[in-house]
Amino acid sequence: MNDDLGAARVYRAIYAVLLRRLPAEAAHRAGFWLIRVAAAVPGLAWALRRVLGPRDPALRVRALGLDFPGPLGLAAGFDKDGAGVTGLAALGFGFVEVGTVTAQAQPGNPKPRMFRFPQERALVNRMGFNNHGAAALTDRLRALRAGPGYRPIVGVNIGKTKAVGEDGAVADYVASARLVADVADYVVVNVSSPNTPGLRDLQSVGKLRPLLAAVREALDQASPRRRVPLLVKIAPDLTDPDIDAVADLALDLGLDGIIATNTTISREGLRDSAAVTAVGSGGMSGAPLRPRALAVLGRLHARTGDRLVLIAAGGIETADDARDRLAAGATLLQAYTAFIYEGPCWPRRIHDGLAKSS
Ligand SMILES: Cc1cc2nc3c(=O)[nH]c(=O)nc-3n(C[C@H](O)[C@H](O)[C@H](O)COP(=O)(O)O)c2cc1C
Repeated sequence: MNDDLGAARVYRAIYAVLLRRLPAEAAHRAGFWLIRVAAAVPGLAWALRRVLGPRDPALRVRALGLDFPGPLGLAAGFDKDGAGVTGLAALGFGFVEVGTVTAQAQPGNPKPRMFRFPQERALVNRMGFNNHGAAALTDRLRALRAGPGYRPIVGVNIGKTKAVGEDGAVADYVASARLVADVADYVVVNVSSPNTPGLRDLQSVGKLRPLLAAVREALDQASPRRRVPLLVKIAPDLTDPDIDAVADLALDLGLDGIIATNTTISREGLRDSAAVTAVGSGGMSGAPLRPRALAVLGRLHARTGDRLVLIAAGGIETADDARDRLAAGATLLQAYTAFIYEGPCWPRRIHDGLAKSS
């Protein structure tokens, strides 16, 4: 049995015996706690990264003015407050996107708010941007930058504080952008989570243009010496004309890239309709999202060519999935749900699979 298969089996056994029995959010907290504890053991993060990190030079990606050791990163939402970046990078992710953070700290939606559909390797969540606020994240990332050792590439994903109405949305995003400008390798404007009322309406070009322009200006003012790359993250539920409109807007405003996609409000692909009804509202992620996320990526690439950095997210589970996204125009990849189901050796498996075909 090779090491990798063995590790995957061990994780599946732990998942079957322990994690599956915990509510989804409790399992996430336990797993994330373990990752942080491991990273705090002197030398262990370094050793893990040596074993699990992307090593093949063929995997390196130069994008957004940054050198990524491998194309697969951890998608936003796992580490909302930037509390475990070192440990997550040690598991082999080529970069980590933290957030979504909002200008004001907020508790998110009442629990339960995260649900598994293991048969379909999907999740439904309505976390609602539970986070400690952009200022706390900034302090944490600043300490990370000042500290010794390896510093992974960290993107910061910003969203709107729930208590702030549509009128204050631009100012709210701008407040977060100003705070994080100095500590973010890139910034993502998230207008696509389904769990903050009205947020996805900001994807209409009339609202998105002033928002993105204001965030761009805030980043330039707050970080005059280094131009902070700016991306927007979109929903898979946009119509095709709306996708084209966002792509055109991104080009027009000189954005650096687009992340496609966030979770979907669709439940297509989930078979247990009683469970779907019982769970209620939220965004679905994982395998059932794959076809739509791939289609959105293809459409963006057809529209923008290589003028934008496209980051693919949504249902990436295998090296073949990763390859399909790169072939469809993605420069970088992100995942969340497959990491939950497949465990800590999964990023390495994807990078190894990609390296074999490169
Ligand atoms: C529990 C959970 C929380 C998430 N939170 C965020 C978030 O705060 N901000 C964001 O932009 N995306 C968030 N996402 C979406 C992921 O970043 C990703 O775009 C989506 O899950 C599709 O990728 P996947 O199929 O690999 O999970 C979240 C996803 C999950 C499952």
